[in-house]
Amino acid sequence: MEVIIAKDYDGMSRIAAHLIAREIRKKPDLVLGLATGGTPVGTYQELVRLHREEGLDFSKVITFNLDEYIGLSPLNKNSYNYFMKDNLFRNVNINPANTHVPQGNTEDPEEFCSWYEERIRKAGGMDLQLLGIGGDGHIAFNEPGSSFGTRTRVKALIKQTIEDNARYFDKIDDVPRFAITMGVGTILESKKILLIANGKKKADVCAQFIEGPVTSQITATALQLHCHSSVVLDEEAASKLTRKEYYNWVRDNKHLVQKTIGR
Ligand code: PGA
Repeated sequence: MEVIIAKDYDGMSRIAAHLIAREIRKKPDLVLGLATGGTPVGTYQELVRLHREEGLDFSKVITFNLDEYIGLSPLNKNSYNYFMKDNLFRNVNINPANTHVPQGNTEDPEEFCSWYEERIRKAGGMDLQLLGIGGDGHIAFNEPGSSFGTRTRVKALIKQTIEDNARYFDKIDDVPRFAITMGVGTILESKKILLIANGKKKADVCAQFIEGPVTSQITATALQLHCHSSVVLDEEAASKLTRKEYYNWVRDNKHLVQKTIGR
């Protein structure tokens, strides 16, 4: 797992956006997995800036979002459909027909989940998946105990997630108890994975998922099993890592491998 430590939230957001932009420039019809929450807001702002000021072209990009609350219509301001339109889709030249966010108010969630998996398969699978991490170590809404083989399905949220996300709702009782979420298995099939995290509140869980043992109790540890995963953290989120010096050395000296092999 590549670990990149940025100075602060803005630095983390810039690095993440530039890594995504590099993939879009290499493959204009990139299949891009997207995340919601507080963490990726700055990354989306930088992608919008790259679109407006540097012509980053989203016209052929296909996106699939990780998750959505059950029961919220796409017009609800707390839905992830709304979040994506507001933070990214309406601000870049993406074709709305190429964007996919699970539908929280679907009448048949189980059937919807199978359809979503099928759409991802038909698109050729994700090239790059952006992730945040929950305070309980979840990726998407794969709460502790989710098998690493899981696919898109309905998941009950745990108390910590409901409390963490209550800040967006009028009262805690308004936070939905269920969500549609891609599974850990769905995420692991992405060709590349990029996880971002910031702030002191994430320091313990980041140390656990990067340097601790692989366990379904912290579903982000599944990234240790992936051959192309990168993590971009700010200094606060990285503060409990024990191998910080090593990660920084690798980040600053990767180019030396060329010299060492004489090219
Ligand atoms: P946050 O959520 O970005 O709002 O901290 C992350 C997550 O729950 O995956």
